[in-house]
Amino acid sequence: MSRTHFGFESVEEAHKATRVRGVFDSVAERYDLMNDLMSMGLHRAWKAYAVAVANVRAGQRVLDIAGGTGDLARAFAPQVGGTGLVVHTDINENMLRTGRDRLIDAGVTLPTVLCDAETLPFAEASFDLVSVAFGLRNMTHKERALAEMCRVLEPGGRLLVLEFSKVAPALAKAYDWYSFQLLPRLGRWVANDAESYRYLAESIRVHPDQAALKGMMKSAGFGHVDVHNLAGGVVALHVGIRC
Ligand SMILES: C[S@@+](CC[C@H](N)C(=O)[O-])C[C@H]1O[C@@H](n2cnc3c(N)ncnc32)[C@H](O)[C@@H]1O
Repeated sequence: MSRTHFGFESVEEAHKATRVRGVFDSVAERYDLMNDLMSMGLHRAWKAYAVAVANVRAGQRVLDIAGGTGDLARAFAPQVGGTGLVVHTDINENMLRTGRDRLIDAGVTLPTVLCDAETLPFAEASFDLVSVAFGLRNMTHKERALAEMCRVLEPGGRLLVLEFSKVAPALAKAYDWYSFQLLPRLGRWVANDAESYRYLAESIRVHPDQAALKGMMKSAGFGHVDVHNLAGGVVALHVGIRC
C-alpha cells in the first residue's frame, strides 16, 4: 500500500481523504472566522488578486474546485452574468453546505456539486476557467487532480491554483514561529481545535514549492504556467494555460 503525507505524518494513501475530511468537518462552522483571524484578513486580498488575474468575462463557464465556503464562486458569479455559469464544488458536505448557505444569503444562486477533484463529474472541455484556492494541498493524488482540471478545461482555458507556498528565506523564522506556536493556539481558542490548525501548518511545509508545482502543472498538460508570489511566497498563484 502506498503512503503519503498527512501533515508531517506518513499515512496510507487510502486513509488520507478520511483524515482530511475530519479536519474540514471540524472547522466548517468557524472556517470563515478562523480564516480572517489567522491571515489577518489577507486571504481576502489574495483571493481578490486571483479574481483580478482571472479576468472572467460575461458568458464564461467557471468551475471552482474545493470551493468550501464559496468566496471565489461568489466573486465570479456577477462577472459571468446571466449567460455564464459558475459551479461551486467541494468533497466535503459540511464545507459545501456552509458555502451554499452563505451564497444564498448573499443572493447568489448557482449549482453546488459534491465531488472529488481527482474524479471530476464533468465532460471534457466544459469550462473556460478552473480555480482551486487552498485546496490542492489537501488532495491525496495532486497529479491526478491537476490532470482532471486540465481535462475539463477548453483548449486555451486557464487553471488558477491559489495555495500556500514556500516563503522567502528572510521570513522563514518568523513564519515558523507563527505557524507552529501561534496558529495551533489560535485554533484552540477560537475553534476549540488545535490539531486541525497544526495540520494546516504542517501540510503547507510538505506541499510542493513554487517551482515543483509549476513542473507538476506542466506535466499535467498546462503548456504555459506563470507563478505570482504573494506576501513573500506565503502564498503563490499559479496560472496554467491548457494547450
Ligand atoms: C482550506 S479549504 C479552502 C476553501 C476555499 N477554497 C477557500 O479558499 O476559502 C480546503 C477545501 O478543500 C477541500 N478538499 C480537500 N480535498 C478535496 C478533494 N479531493 N476534492 C475536492 N475538494 C477537496 C476541503 O473539503 C476544503 O473545503
